[in-house]
Amino acid sequence: MENRVLVACGTKYGATAEIAERIGQVLRQAGLSADVLPAERAGDVRAYKAVVLGSAVYIGRWRKQAAAFLKANEKALAERPVWLFSTGPTGEGDPVALTQGWRFPKGLQPIADRIRPRDIALFHGSANVDKMNPIEKWMLKNVKVPSGDFRDWDAITAWATAIADALK
Ligand SMILES: Cc1cc2nc3c(=O)[nH]c(=O)nc-3n(C[C@H](O)[C@H](O)[C@H](O)COP(=O)(O)O)c2cc1C
Repeated sequence: MENRVLVACGTKYGATAEIAERIGQVLRQAGLSADVLPAERAGDVRAYKAVVLGSAVYIGRWRKQAAAFLKANEKALAERPVWLFSTGPTGEGDPVALTQGWRFPKGLQPIADRIRPRDIALFHGSANVDKMNPIEKWMLKNVKVPSGDFRDWDAITAWATAIADALK
């Protein structure tokens, strides 16, 4: 358990999984041991010193695998340092401005309040229209989510570096 960190995520098209990978890389470069796993395959949280959990956002909600992980592991998460992140907004500018102040799914906020994460981040996402089904394409147009990869690797790296610093 010494210095072992779990980085778990919920993703549909892989953009969030790549962000989780980057976070894991930064933690490893800092001398920590990091397991990067899809939330549905992440094992026992009690084996880890700390947990980073994130999810892609679809219509204001986390992917169900990440939400289920948060709910199922609430007690163990409350007992260790936890960082949460969401990936969603596409377009230029501050991600919270792009979501008109949205930071975290409302339905999960009571659980987050009990877990008391060290931080909750919101990162730009990547919406690749070519991969989407017709309903998603239609929704994307309606919610005016620009297509493209807007992930801010500097912001993600800086956030992960702060996590590594806190755990050392
Ligand atoms: C149908 C649809 C709905 C979306 N809804 C939201 C949303 O409510 N808020 C948001 O910030 N991003 C939203 N997005 C953008 C995705 O969260 C973004 O593309 C994310 O990076 C996808 O991650 P993934 O590749 O890991 O699934 C939506 C995208 C699609 C296709």
